[in-house]
Formats: sequence, C-alpha cells, structure tokens
Amino acid sequence: MEAQVIFGISFVVIFFVSGAKPATFTLNNNCPFTVWPGILTSSGPQLSTTGFELASKVPFILDVPATWSGRLWARTQCTNDNGKFQCATGDCASGQVSCGGAGGIPPASLAEFTLAANNGQDFYDISLVDGFNLPLSIAPQGGSRGCTPVSCTANVNAVCPQELQVKGSDGGVVACQSACLAFNQSQYCCTGAFSTPDTCPPTNYSNIFKSQCPQAYSYAYDDKSGLVTCTGGANYLITFCP
Ligand SMILES: *[C@@H]1O[C@H](CO)[C@@H](O)[C@H](O)[C@H]1NC(C)=O
Ligand SMILES: *[C@@H]1O[C@H](CO)[C@@H](O)[C@H](O)[C@H]1NC(C)=O
Repeated sequence: MEAQVIFGISFVVIFFVSGAKPATFTLNNNCPFTVWPGILTSSGPQLSTTGFELASKVPFILDVPATWSGRLWARTQCTNDNGKFQCATGDCASGQVSCGGAGGIPPASLAEFTLAANNGQDFYDISLVDGFNLPLSIAPQGGSRGCTPVSCTANVNAVCPQELQVKGSDGGVVACQSACLAFNQSQYCCTGAFSTPDTCPPTNYSNIFKSQCPQAYSYAYDDKSGLVTCTGGANYLITFCP
C-alpha cells in the first residue's frame, strides 16, 4: 500500500517535470543531392509533417512527442511534372511532397523508432528488410543508458546483384531490393515453413546486406543486431549519406 502511494507520487512528479518535453529529430542530408524525407506514424500523434524537401547540408528539426512509433526514409530523384510529385525511390504514391499517411514503396532504407514517454526506454533501428536506397545513420544525443549510434554507411547499390537492382531513368542503380521483395519466396520472407527465427536462417542474399551494413536488419528474423535502446529522453540525429 505504502509502496503504491510512493510509486504514484514519484510517477506524478516525473510526469510533470519531464513528461511534456518532446524529443527532437534533427534530419541532416549529407548526400550531394536533395532528398525528400517521408515520415510514417504507426502509433502516437501525427507529426507536423509527413514529407518535405531536404536540400543537401540544410538541417531540419522536427518535434516528436512521446509516445510515438514510426519510420523515416529518404525519397530520391523526385520530380514534379505536371503537378504530379513522383520519386525514383521511396515514393509514397501520394502525388505530392506530403506522404499524408502513406508509407514509402520499397526498397528504401528505413530508420525506425519507438519513443517512450517520461524519459523511458526508446527503441530504434535501421532496417534493410525491404531493401536499401541510401546510407543512413541514427545518433542519439543525450540519454542516459544504452544510446549507441547505429549506421549503414555502405553504398549497397554498388554491390547489388542484378536480380535485385532497381534502376533509375538514367540506367544507374538507385536501390537494391531485398530477396523477399524481389522473389516473394518464403525462405526469403520468413513465411510459411520459414515463419520462425529458428527456421528462417540468413540467405546468400540477406548476407550481402549484412556484410555491407552489419548494424542494420538484413531480413525479418535478423535478431543478432539492429534494435538498440536508449533511456533518458534523448534527441536523435538522423543523417542521410553519413
Ligand atoms: C507473395 O506470395 C504469397 C504466397 O505465395 C501470395 O499470397 C502473395 O500475394 C504474394 N505477394 C506478392 C506481392 O506477389
Ligand atoms: C543465391 O542462391 C540462389 C539459390 O541457391 C541462387 O540461385 C542465386 O544465384 C544465389 N545468388 C547469389 C547472389 O549468390
């Protein structure tokens, strides 16, 4: 009983001291070209934007109230012909710069977050499970426990096997599909007879992503890496082409 009261009081104190402060995401574009980040909220409040233009070397700061879960990615080679916005990679198919609740069409490298309220434990990772379009990194700023930066700095497009390549209008490789996306077979997608971590080992294709970006998820049950935690209400620096 007494413990409950003390717990209740501490909770209220913590809540009022720190609960209302949103985290900030600073998005940096170190690519030598413009990208168009897309943001998809999976739970929690919608953010102030779902998609915008990010010129090279111009940081963009976004408030993210906790609790929040969602993903960010970069769209590349976007054009706006006859009023229809369209991108070579990560396109939301919204026809405009805002994604408006749509996700990116894979393949696209993803930064995934689940932010906890009240300086609790955040989770984040980089996922190449649906493929790769750009190198990216996540670096917590502040925070008290965990909070290891993660990055995928390799250009997987440069070593992408032909059968996984996505080519742009100039014939260059703009993205690399995962084998699941390219072939839709259960051993690559960890479905059917391969639907558990024990029955879905890495494949020759997922190993390509893993060797290029060891800190990123390379396939659905790639559990030996990836998910990182950070306690203490950190802010996050997300860099495209770190
Ligand atoms: C992938 O395969 C499954 C089962 O074989 C099928 O139900 C599904 O529609 C396929 N998905 C795509 C995108 O082709
Ligand atoms: C991966 O393995 C499959 C099936 O064994 C084979 O057909 C394919 O050529 C291999 N691809 C690479 C890039 O090693």
